[in-house]
Amino acid sequence: MARPKIALIGAGQIGGTLAHLVALKELGDVVLFDITDGIPQGKALDIAESGPSEGFDAAMTGTTDYADIAGADVCIVTAGVPRKPGMSRDDLLGINLKVMKSVGEGIAAHAPDAFVICITNPLDAMVWALQKFSGLPANKVCGMAGVLDSARFRHFLSLEFGVSMKDVTAFVLGGHGDTMVPLTRYSTVAGIPLPDLVQMGWTTQDKLDAIVQRTRDGGAEIVGLLKTGSAYYAPATSAIEMAEAYLKDQKRLLPCAAHCSGEFGLDGMYVGVPTVIGAGGIERIVDIKLDKDEKVMFDNSVNAVKGLMDACKGIDGSLA
Ligand code: APR
Repeated sequence: MARPKIALIGAGQIGGTLAHLVALKELGDVVLFDITDGIPQGKALDIAESGPSEGFDAAMTGTTDYADIAGADVCIVTAGVPRKPGMSRDDLLGINLKVMKSVGEGIAAHAPDAFVICITNPLDAMVWALQKFSGLPANKVCGMAGVLDSARFRHFLSLEFGVSMKDVTAFVLGGHGDTMVPLTRYSTVAGIPLPDLVQMGWTTQDKLDAIVQRTRDGGAEIVGLLKTGSAYYAPATSAIEMAEAYLKDQKRLLPCAAHCSGEFGLDGMYVGVPTVIGAGGIERIVDIKLDKDEKVMFDNSVNAVKGLMDACKGIDGSLA
């Protein structure tokens, strides 16, 4: 059987890391696409040359021609600009919205059956625009944010508790920005909810609050350290987890930016919610119950995303 074809739109820091991970995990053949000639070809060849040592045979191609993504099973989109210190994800909106238009048209023309995972920020607004520009079914277009934000939360919690990251589960919902909603009630160590662990004396409420805040600022913490761009290892790994769930029909329950129509009382917008990813794409949105405080935080985050959608509509009338 032919290997799956995975198109990576954007061959920058995240795009290159994605290509390397696809190769190492033998998920399929890779086409790296970018507008900057030489970068995708160079990265593809460099990764291909690690094949003999790593023992993979996946084909790695670099291109500036959308025709080369023809028939891709998965497209992961990182095209656009990342933020620099002092910038919020929202500051990227004007530039990256134009990029989403060209990427959406390219995918629609050459890979209309693909499962599309958007990583470009500001995430929730960009994935919404990408779905509209591409015209692909909403269940086949989603955004990567919740897996990453939850991974950051899980990492910090594992350090606090001195337990394996594997045993920490966490849900971070809402928009991928300052208003994101780490849900302590739905986050556990091997099934023990965080509020119980506070009562058991494993940590204090103050320390937990600080970890929640560090999670919200997780992207900015990396930008502040790198100074020249934003995070790429963990974002790439998170998107690969989603792609693998689709390609292997794993039915993983993962928080993703998904198109809500009715769920969580939302109508026709993308925001981070629990989803099931399998061969059908976003197969289900898990409409969990939020208590009063969680609902206030979620609504606040939804309103921030709506503000970004309105800004997009102001820039590109076709989105209105
Ligand atoms: N089409 C294709 N590629 C494009 C386009 C376009 N219209 N415009 C820019 N690019 C390419 C750039 O040439 C660059 O190689 O997108 C790539 C982006 O790579 P980086 O600048 O290294 O950014 P990266 O760190 O990979 O982040 C990409 O993901 O997490 C988000 O906020 C981040 O929006 C940013 C995106």
